[in-house]
Amino acid sequence: FPVDKIRNFSIIAHIDHGKSTLADRLLEMTGAIAKTDKNKQVLDKLQVERERGITVKAQTASLFYSHHGQQYLLNLIDTPGHVDFSYEVSRSISACQGVLLIVDANQGIQAQTVANFYLAFEAQLAIIPVINKIDLRNADPERVESQIEKVFDIPREECIRISAKLGTNVETVLKAVVDRIPPPLACPNDPFKALVFDSCFDHYRGVVTNVALFGGQVKKGDRIVSAHHSKTYEVNELGLLRPDEHPTQRLYAGQVGYIIAGMKDVKEAQIGDTLHLQDQPVEALPGFKPAKAMVFAGMYPMDQSEYPGLRSAIERLTLNDSSVTVQRDSSLALGAGWRLGFLGLLHMEVFNQRLEQEHNASVIVTAPTVPYKAILSSAKLIKSRRAVQKNMVYIDDQRVMMKYLFPLNEIVVDFYDQLKSLSSGYASFDYENAGYQTAELIKMDILLNGNPVEELATVVHRNRAYSTGKSMCERLKDTIPRQMFEIAVQAAIGSKIIARETIKAYRKNVLAKCYGGDITRKMKLLKKQAEGKKKMRLIGRVEVPKDAFINVLKRK
Ligand code: GTP
Repeated sequence: FPVDKIRNFSIIAHIDHGKSTLADRLLEMTGAIAKTDKNKQVLDKLQVERERGITVKAQTASLFYSHHGQQYLLNLIDTPGHVDFSYEVSRSISACQGVLLIVDANQGIQAQTVANFYLAFEAQLAIIPVINKIDLRNADPERVESQIEKVFDIPREECIRISAKLGTNVETVLKAVVDRIPPPLACPNDPFKALVFDSCFDHYRGVVTNVALFGGQVKKGDRIVSAHHSKTYEVNELGLLRPDEHPTQRLYAGQVGYIIAGMKDVKEAQIGDTLHLQDQPVEALPGFKPAKAMVFAGMYPMDQSEYPGLRSAIERLTLNDSSVTVQRDSSLALGAGWRLGFLGLLHMEVFNQRLEQEHNASVIVTAPTVPYKAILSSAKLIKSRRAVQKNMVYIDDQRVMMKYLFPLNEIVVDFYDQLKSLSSGYASFDYENAGYQTAELIKMDILLNGNPVEELATVVHRNRAYSTGKSMCERLKDTIPRQMFEIAVQAAIGSKIIARETIKAYRKNVLAKCYGGDITRKMKLLKKQAEGKKKMRLIGRVEVPKDAFINVLKRK
């Protein structure tokens, strides 16, 4: 394919505005997948993505499209929409020359619409505004066009109104991709130079890297070098993603595809690395802005015998998600484990779910914490979260954009859920790091029968210590099942106890309903009870369910 017939683009949007649905239509219309009504979010490959209805990992698909009597190769890179994953968005964007900026015709501009717009704008990409869901009864594309004009300074005439669900006007989008997005600046006669923008681990073939070729060409058998760590590899397989892997003979400048080159160690395929031929060194492409972990949590195996298995599961998963940081850690109550850094709470939950679903690992996750440097400072909800208002802009007569400075600690756990429910789903939220501030904070311990539980200790603002301690004790009382002895749950600051709940003694007799002597049934019930207990952690003599560590932090 001549470079001038190639277009590399991404779809960016606020969550649920319809990226994946539009991607499905584009894949169908270009024949990459068959037209059936089963095509629901084809690029969302992970089980967690389908279950949660969100995109976590960016995916790539190469599409062939005829326009003006010419064949074009369109490389589509899908991106996630949730705040926690904006790292993946910026990574995908650096392999593109243009974006489709999707806005829901009913909801209008939302927090991530703005955040994603700026990512594309700063990368100087061509931006095509697409107003989706015009089929909805309460769609108001006029109003959304005014918002786009006001907030992004893009003339309303450039907006394309579509229904991704029904396929209305999607052809216009494909034409706009060809007409309005420039081809990549890549020369086939230059030395081979490729950007690694994603990678994943395959049990049989090792590391599969997703690459964008900024120059030259590469074929099977070529010896390639990673600019980052100077190791040499032989290319075993390469090809296009349509969206499944299609092996080809070569990849050329401007193309986006995959390369398998015998990388075995998960750390060899660094996102943002540059690949070149062994005998033709090139200047490395500027790397990506590395993702910054904002939320930290401990992860421990249910049982220390599962430590090696969990270690390799975490290693494999972190290859698929290089934004996670991993450090070894150990705790008195939980044994050897790790301290992992995530971009946000959803990111942490998704990681945990993927460990369980894709790697069959069962883990205990401790309460998430945020980074502190010594001591930090500081209308609804917002006041109770110690926020300071920065500015307020009316997007139109129905929507307002407010900027606040929040302590990160106040938003990591359930701020997003509460914001959604208080605003009946209308408000949306995005954040960026504003640095460290000074505040009056104290450490609060939680004791179970007098034993401090390190994993439950938290940093709280002095004014809120009492209420937080009280609600944590209440929650623990609700989560920890009754046991054969009484359990005192206490919150303490230093040696001062500020809250207490008591869990009464009790033993569940699982055999109570088994009359007579059906021994196999009894064994089954006892076995089930034993398995249930495995999901618990012993702290002192107290059994604590593994989800207690995180549930206890969510506000009522
Ligand atoms: P994330 O990947 O999680 O950010 O979501 P997304 O932006 O990919 O949204 P998705 O394509 O999953 O669509 C969200 C919901 O909107 C789904 O229930 C779609 O069926 C629906 N939807 C998408 N496009 C349209 C449309 O044109 N009209 C209507 N009525 N619904 C649509």
